[in-house]
Amino acid sequence: MTVKDEIEQLRAELDEHNYRYYVLSAPTISDKEFDDKMRRLQELEAAHPEYADPASPTQRVGSDISKEFKQVAHRYPMLSLGNTYSAEDVRDFYERTARLLGEPFEIVAELKFDGTSISLIYEEGVLVRAVTRGDGTRGDDVTANVRTIRSIPLRLRGDDVPAEVEIRGEVLLPWSEFDRINQERAAQEEPLFANPRNAASGTLKQLNPAIVAARRLDAYLYYVLGEELPADTHYGNLQAARRWGLKVSDATQVCHSLDDIYTYINKWDTERKNLPVATDGIVLKVNSLRQQQALGYTAKNPRWAIAYKFQAEREETRLNSVSYQVGRTGAVTPVANLEPVLLAGTVVKRASLHNADIIEGLDLHIGDQVYVEKGGEIIPKIVGVNKEARTMMIGEKVRFITRCPECGTKLVRTEGEAAYYCPNDTGCAPQIKGRIEHFVTRKAMNVNIGPETIEDLYEVGLLKDAADLYELKMKDLIRLERRGERSARNLLESLDASKQVPFERVLFALGIRYVGESVAKRLAQAFRSMDALQAATFEQLVATEDIGERIAQSLVDYFAKEANLTLIRRLASYGLQMERAEEEAGARSEKLKGQTIVISGTFAHHSRDEYKALIEQHGGKNSGSISSKTSFILAGENMGPAKMEKAAQLGIRLLNEDEFLKLLED
Ligand code: IVH
Repeated sequence: MTVKDEIEQLRAELDEHNYRYYVLSAPTISDKEFDDKMRRLQELEAAHPEYADPASPTQRVGSDISKEFKQVAHRYPMLSLGNTYSAEDVRDFYERTARLLGEPFEIVAELKFDGTSISLIYEEGVLVRAVTRGDGTRGDDVTANVRTIRSIPLRLRGDDVPAEVEIRGEVLLPWSEFDRINQERAAQEEPLFANPRNAASGTLKQLNPAIVAARRLDAYLYYVLGEELPADTHYGNLQAARRWGLKVSDATQVCHSLDDIYTYINKWDTERKNLPVATDGIVLKVNSLRQQQALGYTAKNPRWAIAYKFQAEREETRLNSVSYQVGRTGAVTPVANLEPVLLAGTVVKRASLHNADIIEGLDLHIGDQVYVEKGGEIIPKIVGVNKEARTMMIGEKVRFITRCPECGTKLVRTEGEAAYYCPNDTGCAPQIKGRIEHFVTRKAMNVNIGPETIEDLYEVGLLKDAADLYELKMKDLIRLERRGERSARNLLESLDASKQVPFERVLFALGIRYVGESVAKRLAQAFRSMDALQAATFEQLVATEDIGERIAQSLVDYFAKEANLTLIRRLASYGLQMERAEEEAGARSEKLKGQTIVISGTFAHHSRDEYKALIEQHGGKNSGSISSKTSFILAGENMGPAKMEKAAQLGIRLLNEDEFLKLLED
């Protein structure tokens, strides 16, 4: 046998044993035998680098320490599901589906795994990329970490694997691993993970893949996407994914009636407690892909699927004290500090109390025995008091504070509103820092600066509002202990890039009360520029679609403050976008006339769909596969190796994103 043959045989054997061990949970050789084979393969590969293969089983533990994750656009947006909590909601979903379809249909019932979602891209059967959900349109490229997850194949098996396929699922930390890691952390006096979901997403974001490998994550896959799928049903595609070597839950079942669905829900509400991983509900999906397409999507969710959440678990514990946190808008949030209690598998020490009315309604006293519940939220809430348990020793009644715990200013409450606010917005530290933190978030200006650096810069007086960011100099930054030159440059570059962020996000970044992402978008569409918005009257604002009195008043109040106007003027002077870019027109040019273009990989400036549209607007043709007719390839990051090779063979030019955009501009 030649060395090459031996390497290939060992790889095939190790892949098979990995699969039997991690996916089927049915190993057929001992750990020692496995390790011996692995060692032999490592030796051979080390001696013969010419046979290197990124999909080799030796390549799971990346040793290269990446500094940060690259963001990549999803080919298909990663949507979430609408939630339901009752049998009636499930019936409503079923009946609505029946009504909309007007023909027989099947529902696939699945477990809703409580981890963090992942999208896996396989090209020519090889795992080329793994991306987190991120904001649904863009996520972090966590490929190096995902490669360490043993139940995720680096190469799919079987001969019906599509050339390109995207598989979505949930990365999880099994309960046993979660407990083991928390014990270790407790021993090191490190903070504990609150639940397996946080632990899984935290682990996936680890910069060092070796740490990720040590945490033994697992993954269940539940959604197959692509242009050429093996089956025309969701269930059929899941079975195909299972044949390809992916871990698909055995609990997945086709239901033919509402009764089938209820039976499934009842069964798993109890049985899930015996599972090795956390689940928080059931997912129901229309089986036929044609019917899925017919049902389509709302802005946020597919109409063909829904999540049913299991009833939250409840525990009783003692209320030790109440503390108050001041947010960026000045809103004061009460938090209950509890005697630690185990709730649905996690230790609960704090709970949200929401607002003064809720505290009043509960008639809370320090020392009360309270009921805590954990719904879908990470933060549990207090839902009641066990008054029977009150004794002579009962503590004082909880009364909402009247002064800001941070700056001492008297709190105010607007008529008809639940929250108390600290009105000292220009002098209260958590508000100032909070506004800057909001300004830099990914969905706002996307500036590379963390809360610690903001804190440090605030402390030394270099950062008193968001506009000060644009005056930061290299020398200021490297003087700060935490900042190396590299990260300082990074920050300055991201500030520069933020000047291209569209107006609607600038508006969102200002952090005007009640002006969230979608409101900012609406306002940008309706008013088109900061000047116009600033000049708008209350009446003009409320006449705008989706803008109610509360938002309108908040805008009027915001623009009435000189400090805010000064901030906006300064931001404008640094070059931030203060008006909406002109609408993309229909046909724009004939620049790509007669050209056939293949898009491959992922992009930073636009999504794939946007590039497809651009190509058409300029008279070009999109094509999915590379051939001698291809004029050029619009190549993003991580273009698949097979495509790369084919392009090289045919001598086809690759244009990167910037070159392509330049081509259209010229
Ligand atoms: S399907 C368009 N199936 O729950 C379909 N999701 O809000 C999208 N999840 O973000 C998801 N188990 O992270 C689906 N069997 C399952 C799931 C599941 C867990 C997660 C997923 C998603 C969220 C739904």
